[in-house]
Amino acid sequence: MKKKILILHGPNLNLLGIREPEYYGRLSLDEINRRLHEKAAIYGLEIECFQSNGENVLVEKIQAAYGTVDCIIINAAAFTHYSIAIRDALKAVGLPAIEVHLSNIDAREEFRRHSVIADIVMGRITGFGASSYLLALTAAKELMEKNE
Ligand code: DQA
Repeated sequence: MKKKILILHGPNLNLLGIREPEYYGRLSLDEINRRLHEKAAIYGLEIECFQSNGENVLVEKIQAAYGTVDCIIINAAAFTHYSIAIRDALKAVGLPAIEVHLSNIDAREEFRRHSVIADIVMGRITGFGASSYLLALTAAKELMEKNE
């Protein structure tokens, strides 16, 4: 059975391509997802990519991952910095999670330096643009192999 990875994109990431390209690059979310699907096929992983601007929608999606998904890759975007609901949902389902950011959040405004999920994820990849997601997928693949 193929391992399934859920890739979550938080608020405003649907605007990638036009949104502050100096931080987030010029690739659209569709293009990033296409590249993720391409790499997942090479790795023999099943992936689902999902974006929402709503905290409650992301919480529901994390809850629904319980028992159906093996690992979560999450760019919670602005929710990273304050959503206890997303943190609690990740903790509740107990799935291994990897935190991703396109920009280097430690090199930006002070309020971005704090992540409320940093201590409950397996690890964090931040600052490599779209490659952050692809690196996270590689990390997920290795994690899945280790857990087999
Ligand atoms: C982001 C960084 C967050 O601080 C910001 O709110 C985002 C995107 C990133 O991918 O660099 O929306 O998560």
